[in-house]
Amino acid sequence: MPERWYQQAVIYCLDVETFQDSNGDGVGDLRGLTSRLDYLARLGVSTIWLNPIHPTPGRDDGYDLTDYYAVDPRLGTLGDFVELVHQCDNRGIRLIIDLVVNHTSDEHPWFVSARSDPDSPYRDWYVWSPTEPPNAEEGVVFPGYQRGTWSHDEQSDSWYHHRFYAFQPDLNWSNPAVREEIGRVVAFWLELGVSGFRMDGAPFVIEEVHPDTADRVMHYEWLNDLRDLIAWRRGDAVVLAEANVPREQILEFFGPRGDRLPMMFNFAENQQMFLALARGSAAPLVTAVQSSPAIPPAASWATFLRNHDEIDLSGLRESERADVFAKFGPDKDMQLYDRGIRRRLAPMLGGDPERIRLAYVLQFSLPGTPVIRYGEEIGMGEDLSLDQRNAIRTPMQWADAPQAGFSPAEETVRPVIAKGDFGYPAVNVRDQQRDPESLLSWFQRVLPVLRESPEFGSGKCTVLDTRHEAVLGLRYDCPTGSVLAVLNLGTDAVTVDLSPQPGVTDGFPVDVFADRDYPAAGDLSAVELAGSGYRWLRLSRAVGA
Ligand code: GLC
Repeated sequence: MPERWYQQAVIYCLDVETFQDSNGDGVGDLRGLTSRLDYLARLGVSTIWLNPIHPTPGRDDGYDLTDYYAVDPRLGTLGDFVELVHQCDNRGIRLIIDLVVNHTSDEHPWFVSARSDPDSPYRDWYVWSPTEPPNAEEGVVFPGYQRGTWSHDEQSDSWYHHRFYAFQPDLNWSNPAVREEIGRVVAFWLELGVSGFRMDGAPFVIEEVHPDTADRVMHYEWLNDLRDLIAWRRGDAVVLAEANVPREQILEFFGPRGDRLPMMFNFAENQQMFLALARGSAAPLVTAVQSSPAIPPAASWATFLRNHDEIDLSGLRESERADVFAKFGPDKDMQLYDRGIRRRLAPMLGGDPERIRLAYVLQFSLPGTPVIRYGEEIGMGEDLSLDQRNAIRTPMQWADAPQAGFSPAEETVRPVIAKGDFGYPAVNVRDQQRDPESLLSWFQRVLPVLRESPEFGSGKCTVLDTRHEAVLGLRYDCPTGSVLAVLNLGTDAVTVDLSPQPGVTDGFPVDVFADRDYPAAGDLSAVELAGSGYRWLRLSRAVGA
């Protein structure tokens, strides 16, 4: 079995500016995060993914940056960053950072120079057209908030390309000088000690754009180059890429020999998880896992329920999407970009602790490495009064104290959620640390079990026929041993027969994690599950594994 650290990781995604403020200016910072590392270590997190930390005008939460080689002064200094890396090392925690290289901010000095002078050395670092391209209104990523993908630049009286908002001009990756510079950026951060990157908008990075045609040539070989460059600098570094593309295309991102990007978010499965939870049916996931393409051995999926963006349901059929909207985001205000839901998980599931735990066990039971968004471990909610995706980007709720213990300042980067079922008096770390029944305590129990079960990250996965619509059964085998995950997505108790094929013996299945104490699973012919119940059963473990 090829073993890669990222196949057995638990990745925790956070935005420094909303995690912990250390200097009282109302903005979370690197020192604040460093002071919370013991919390993350105790939670069972092995890798932290930081949302963009670079200088930024902040019009897309840092995904619009003005300097690849610096830390936003509001968050701290490069010195603070290196100290953070060091303190992570001390705790055996790895750090990965967002790599936003499809575009810069329009305030980046490269773009400022490019638009100011046709002879600028940076002119060709962006994608221009002398006239309005015929497809200028196509391909928008943020419908309702983004007018087109080409905008007129008055200064140079020409049009520039931008996949995202108009203030995020796309870099011209066809220009080798751009690729070389990005190579230097990557090398810089690896040298500072990061274990890899979360690559933003990977498909857009590698598409070659021409103003006169909507056809786009995809340069997958640029990913090979990037991978080589990273591997030369740090052999075990990971790139976890965002590529919300059809499944057939995903394999191209991993590379036919696993020689491009080692880890991809599983967007398709994310949507199927919500469909399964909405319908109380395992069927969507049975199909999703069975039809999931085989990926190269060293490659890995990253699973997630919630991230820093809306839940993108555009991969579902219309009736499926309607079911998910009806159940989890019925109000127009909860929906975004005609395709998604801008809510956190706990309120979507009505704050029901059993359903929330089931949802997370479901995520952890699927093939791949789990990524968890900060605040999900305590069941934080959203603030729909905030614009677009900011609804789910409110400060971490540390305590029932002013500003949720996030900051002593009167005004914070975004308001903390203070009222209602998900306000900080009701939902916070400190109270949950003292309560063994809390969601946080549950996370502290489940994550170590997950990490003791490398089968989930890197074993061979087989979907079992549970003969029950609501019950998902997955079996994982790898040289360290075998495990079963059995989950009841319905709300009625069931008993299922999972006895192995004739001739196969499965030793003495032992519950390693379950929603309650169940009678021993014995020969697996009558496995009991409560409504919303789940069981992880270890079938065998290799000696010493
Ligand atoms: C990615 C990020 C999103 C951002 C966009 C533009 O999709 O996840 O938050 O707005 O890229 O960088």
